[in-house]
Amino acid sequence: MGKATKPSTKIILEYIANFPDAPARTLARKIFNENKGFFDTQEKVYGRVKYYLGLNGKKAREQLEIKQFFREPKKHNRMLPESYIEKRERIKLPSGMKKLGIFGDVHIPYHDNEALETMFDKFEEEKVDGIYINGDLLDFYALSFHEKDPRKARFKDEIKAGRELLEYMRERFSGVPIYFIPGNHENRLERYLRRKAVELLDVDEFRLDVLLQVGATRIQYIPFRSKVSFGNYLIEHGDKIPGAGGVVPARTALMKLKTNVIINHFHKTSSSSQRVYNVDDSSTINGYSLGCMCELEPEYLEINEWNHGFAILDNNNQKISVRQFKIENGKII
Ligand SMILES: [Fe+2]
Ligand SMILES: [Fe+2]
Repeated sequence: MGKATKPSTKIILEYIANFPDAPARTLARKIFNENKGFFDTQEKVYGRVKYYLGLNGKKAREQLEIKQFFREPKKHNRMLPESYIEKRERIKLPSGMKKLGIFGDVHIPYHDNEALETMFDKFEEEKVDGIYINGDLLDFYALSFHEKDPRKARFKDEIKAGRELLEYMRERFSGVPIYFIPGNHENRLERYLRRKAVELLDVDEFRLDVLLQVGATRIQYIPFRSKVSFGNYLIEHGDKIPGAGGVVPARTALMKLKTNVIINHFHKTSSSSQRVYNVDDSSTINGYSLGCMCELEPEYLEINEWNHGFAILDNNNQKISVRQFKIENGKII
């Protein structure tokens, strides 16, 4: 690349070099989505990608100086129709983390401070070197489509309280990476915008991570629906598991996903394991559902089986062992 290479060209060439097998259209979509502000339209990026791949005709191929990325033009002209499949992002939490504290279902501002304090004390005592917030950090009551009590929390206050909790955690666990993935409750924001203010959907200022100012607190934001794993465990919020949780949500998750898994969402501590008859030795898969950190007897569902709880995951060379904790009256039981 010469000195005068435009930043946008540099981006395109980098992607082409890094993803040598990706189809031109896929590359164009990826480049456009991941480099907001550099390109006007995805179609224009597509044109430029094709150009550098040498797919814009013989003349263009001859004139182009950079020939290292050329691909052989297809022998036929017809293209398959563009696919709208969006692959879920895969995220592997760093293997260097030895002790990961995990919790979710805080449902700010309906959070239980006593339970939170107890959990954070435990994280501190155990010297966790990573914290993972597994969805439903915020309730977003104001954005739900259920019947609402106007005296309850306003959206603005919920966001403020959410920021305050993240700031609290950042200060208390200053050098520790903190990850946050939204759950179905945070997704109420997206659903609200889709239904009521579609024009604001792609405005950055209305993105959850921007509203929560995760950059300022150095919280690592993981996009909704990403597929997250830590060692040999999948970590899911739990809302995508078909059907309800049942009496033992961990069992339901294990049977549906058929792999080691940790979920939140059902607000109830449970575990389940199953031996799997394998080609080689048989092995055991384990599932865990974690308790919540929110009000246990909310007005809309006063009688339930919820409990306060969280887990600590110990990482031994990518083999995870899970320690679950339940909290009652401010104490770990
Ligand atoms: Fe929840
Ligand atoms: Fe949930």
